[in-house]
Amino acid sequence: MIFRQLFDQTSGTYSYLLASRAGGEALIIDPVLEKVERYIQLMRELDLRLVKAVDTHLHADHITGLGALRDRTHCITVMGERTKADVVSIRLADGDKLRIEGLCLDVLYTPGHTDDSYSFLMQDRVFTGDTLLIRGTGRTDFQNGDARAQYESIFGRLLALPEETFVFPAHDYKGDTVSTIGEEKRYNPRLQVKSVDEYVTLMAGLNLPNPKMMDVAVPANMRVGLAQEELARRGWSVTAREAMALIGRSDIALIDLREPEERKRHGGIAGALSVPYAELAENIGTGGVLHELAMATGKSILFFCAFGERSAMAVQAARDAGLGAARHIQGGLDAWLKADGPIVH
Ligand SMILES: [Fe+2]
Repeated sequence: MIFRQLFDQTSGTYSYLLASRAGGEALIIDPVLEKVERYIQLMRELDLRLVKAVDTHLHADHITGLGALRDRTHCITVMGERTKADVVSIRLADGDKLRIEGLCLDVLYTPGHTDDSYSFLMQDRVFTGDTLLIRGTGRTDFQNGDARAQYESIFGRLLALPEETFVFPAHDYKGDTVSTIGEEKRYNPRLQVKSVDEYVTLMAGLNLPNPKMMDVAVPANMRVGLAQEELARRGWSVTAREAMALIGRSDIALIDLREPEERKRHGGIAGALSVPYAELAENIGTGGVLHELAMATGKSILFFCAFGERSAMAVQAARDAGLGAARHIQGGLDAWLKADGPIVH
């Protein structure tokens, strides 16, 4: 496995680059905007292809690198389903799996620092975001923070993991890089409490100043979605309502870009052919299934995904590959549902 802990000095943020092998797919957790060039260079040097960029929660102290990485690498942006961010490609829920080639992380909903805080467990290590820090815990006094929920997340979920599990947090300000669950159980001063009420009192007494970047970072991090309007202006999108009139027509090939787990959980649109976004490149090139389908039958391709991000990138890729009639459903299945479109399971 390839595992890199990367540091942003300005905000004290740790980002994590994961991959199962050189030459394969990579995932990054909590990337920082100012470091995007560095990540891209490192991935080039390690011969990695970024396919997913994930934030553990909506950060208040730095601007996320999610949008910039998506624009540069066409990767999928991922956050938890409770996120306040406008659009990310995939929203995960507690119990879901976050997968790339050769790696699988369990998604744990661990609210408290914010109400959109998630942790990701990968075998011997857990990425705790700002829920559990090394000898500390994330503050709970803004962004719908809740010390009571955080106590449950830490004591009920994270500390229930095997003691030898490595803890990799989103921040450290003292120079520590990694800890273990057992170590934090014993030595984290915030966790030496006898009850949830004691923890709530402790957190209420911290009186921390707001992060310097908060007024800039929070609004910026809420607007990470790809600008789908530009595609609409070019006539490369249809609204969910317009799509309903196109479904079932023999000259339209409807392509679902979501992953199998998303389809299973949320259902889909009748008659859609499944081509997960990760397999798009090989399918739209010469000899690929979609390429041949469009060329042989003259069908025009209509992509959709969960929120319209992957499909917007797919439209551009398909047009670059010569499939000139490709369009997508703006806003994805989310917009389709809001327009009362029928779902099949
Ligand atoms: Fe945070």
